[in-house]
Order: sequence, then C-alpha cells, then structure tokens
Amino acid sequence: MMTTSLDYGELQYGWELAYQHQDTEQPLWQEAAIPVIDDAIEPLSSAGARSVVDLGCGDGRNLAALVAAGFSCMGVDIAPTGLAHARTTARPAFLLRADATDIGLIDNPVDAVTCFDVFGQIQDPSSLVSEARRILRPGGRSSSTRSPTKTARTARARRSHPHTFAYNDTLFRYYDEDSIRELFAEWEVTSLYRRSWDDPPHGDFRPYPHRHDNWIVLATPR
Ligand SMILES: C[S@@+](CC[C@H](N)C(=O)[O-])C[C@H]1O[C@@H](n2cnc3c(N)ncnc32)[C@H](O)[C@@H]1O
Repeated sequence: MMTTSLDYGELQYGWELAYQHQDTEQPLWQEAAIPVIDDAIEPLSSAGARSVVDLGCGDGRNLAALVAAGFSCMGVDIAPTGLAHARTTARPAFLLRADATDIGLIDNPVDAVTCFDVFGQIQDPSSLVSEARRILRPGGRSSSTRSPTKTARTARARRSHPHTFAYNDTLFRYYDEDSIRELFAEWEVTSLYRRSWDDPPHGDFRPYPHRHDNWIVLATPR
C-alpha cells in the first residue's frame, strides 16, 4: 500500500461529517453502548469513583451507560453534531465541545477518565494521555480502549505511517502492546488485555458488519 501524508486538521473533523450524514434509519452506532462498557464500569465502581469524564464521547451512547451506572458524568467531544445527539441520549451528563487533548479549565479534578475508541482516531495520543492525567485527582483512574496493530485496511484506506490510515476522512491508528506501555510510561497499568466483538454496520460510514478487536487499558497515574 502507498504511504502518503495525511492532513490531520481535516481528519479531526471527519467524525463531525459522519455524525451529520447519519440518519435516523441508519444511525452510526446501533448498539446501546460499546460491548466492553462493563470492563470500565466494574473496576471504576469498585475503586469508588463517582465523577467520570468521557473523552471523545461522540453521540453519548457510553455516557448514557455511565450515567445509568450512577456516575456523575461529563462528556467531551470535538464534533458538535455528536454532542447534539448526546444531549438527548445521555441526560443529565454535562457536555463540553473541546479538543480532548486541551480541554481547558475544569472546576474540580475527577475520579476517573474513560475513553472508548478514540485513541485510534486521535492525532496526538500522548497529549490525550497527559490531559487525562491533568484532570484526574491523585489516585484517580483511567479506562480506555484502542485497536491493536493491523498491517492492512480496506481498499478505501490510505496509509500514512505504519499502523496509521485515513478512512472516510477520519484517522485510524493501531497499537501494539509496547506502544501502549510507552504512552502510559508514567502510569501504573493495572490491566491490559484484548477483547473482540462483532459490530453491526455503522450507517454508511462503515456499511457492513465487522469485527472489533480492542485493547482495554486500566491505569492510574504514578
Ligand atoms: C470512533 S468515535 C467513538 C465515539 C464514542 N467514544 C463511542 O464509543 O461511541 C471517535 C470519537 O472521537 C472524537 N474525537 C476525535 N478527535 C477528537 C479530539 N481531538 N477531541 C475530542 N474528540 C475527538 C470524534 O469526534 C468521535 O466522536
């Protein structure tokens, strides 16, 4: 596959276009929450977390599950149309339109940060990890998912760097275990494992059933 340079500025807004183009007959996400939501909820509940910030919350499907589990939640996403959906699905979560790598001031540090399927889409993963660390209270926890390394993508994907592709105006980045441990070098990684599941089509963004294979990472800043 050819290696080309990607315009990350544009790719950051690809999700906004995907949210705008979805319709009610063919929503992007047809499942209630990401199937590994309990991999976050259970350890965070057991650790006594009450406040959670979900970075890259999208249309709020996971925020809704976090709210239902009793957490006090804030969702952050760069895509305004995703947040407009979250406003109806994830009440009463507080929602903020911001770049998750630079959220700005928040009132109080939080007990936990979650991040589902965003590390694969982010231009600067280390800034995302730093921002999670900045907004966590001492002893707080982060639970996140990301995709493992792949060497090939669909015919419509353009590769820029090893394990980094553009697909439908969005960025897809894949991780191996070493790159995850490097990202979390200043954290204690308490769990790191892989989970797979079958997903239905995501509207016309990914209009075919497909398999997700994700790393689950639970970590706490040292
Ligand atoms: C694959 S979607 C996952 C959405 C949601 N976490 C879920 O599982 O349904 C990736 C999300 O990351 C958001 N995103 C990408 N780059 C971002 C950034 N720099 N800051 C905040 N959100 C970002 C996109 O707008 C999109 O909603």
